[in-house]
Amino acid sequence: MAEIDDVVRELRTEIESADIGSPDAAETFRIKYLGQKRGLINDLMKRIPEVAPGQRRDFGQSVNALKKLAESRVAAAKKAAEAAPGAAKFDVTLPGREPLVGSLHPITQTRNAILRIFERYGFHVAEGPELEDEWHNFTALNFPSNHPARDMQDTLFVSPSDDGDSGVLLRTHTSPAQIRILKNQPPPVRVVVPGRVYRNEAITYKSYCLFHQVEGLYVDTQVTLGDLHYILRTFSRAIFGSDVRMRFRPNYFPFTEPSAEVDIWFANPDHPGGGRWLEILGCGMVDPNVLRAVDIDPEVYSGYAFGMGIERIAMLRYGIDDIRVLYENDVRFLDQF
Ligand code: PHE
Repeated sequence: MAEIDDVVRELRTEIESADIGSPDAAETFRIKYLGQKRGLINDLMKRIPEVAPGQRRDFGQSVNALKKLAESRVAAAKKAAEAAPGAAKFDVTLPGREPLVGSLHPITQTRNAILRIFERYGFHVAEGPELEDEWHNFTALNFPSNHPARDMQDTLFVSPSDDGDSGVLLRTHTSPAQIRILKNQPPPVRVVVPGRVYRNEAITYKSYCLFHQVEGLYVDTQVTLGDLHYILRTFSRAIFGSDVRMRFRPNYFPFTEPSAEVDIWFANPDHPGGGRWLEILGCGMVDPNVLRAVDIDPEVYSGYAFGMGIERIAMLRYGIDDIRVLYENDVRFLDQF
């Protein structure tokens, strides 16, 4: 009898002092002491025949008290687990957390928007090398050998040469792609060529030493200036909205004749009626000398070409007034797109 009393006392100390801070520990505790089959409290109750008949009542009561104590500890542990801050993560009905994803650079978004518009009109997308030779960048495009654009002041040469054709340079425009494409594919040709171009220019709010262009080229029999006007008007409406104000302004390029630049009216929201014209592209009818340089007969074929600045269009689209922010990769700027 003395022995069984000791067991009750020991169990009570154990139950009182058990560390059941975690839900797992509380469950282990419950099985150990309150389990139906092998729980220590049930085991103890089964030993009642060992107790002298006169003391069975007291024994039964103290074992019941042990059971109550163990049950209240399990209940308290459960309550504590539910109130814990981490408990909410078990709520499967909570909406998920949105993963952080990057976004496309505004220049890339604008380039894609431009290409999608021309694709709708049957233009294919092509590319050309950024490292060019003088022949493709200038000579084949009808630049005379003494043209100032060939000057080191304007063009970033990698290796200059004396013959005016073989020097290697960073292309100053995407127009050399016209030459590469026409050399490889007989007309009809209808392509747009996106890419980076480089110029040896002072860096200001409106110019940078590198920028992006999309070249357009259409060569076939009977391509007219009216076709060029139509496609550029349609493009401007698609990218800037149907109420866009645009104008064709006569200009000069060695590789087109006649040539023009297209300006877009950039309204100033602070001054009703105020604003300014911003040039977004150069264009014209492919010069017969260019067709001859790639062995295409200008008596049979004609074409138009245009080259637009992606930065200019992105700045108009998003209301950006300093070109330099497009190259700084400041996340506070990029996050907005
Ligand atoms: N290559 C010219 C430029 O960079 C743009 C242009 C392209 C003009 C095609 C006419 C035809 O300014």
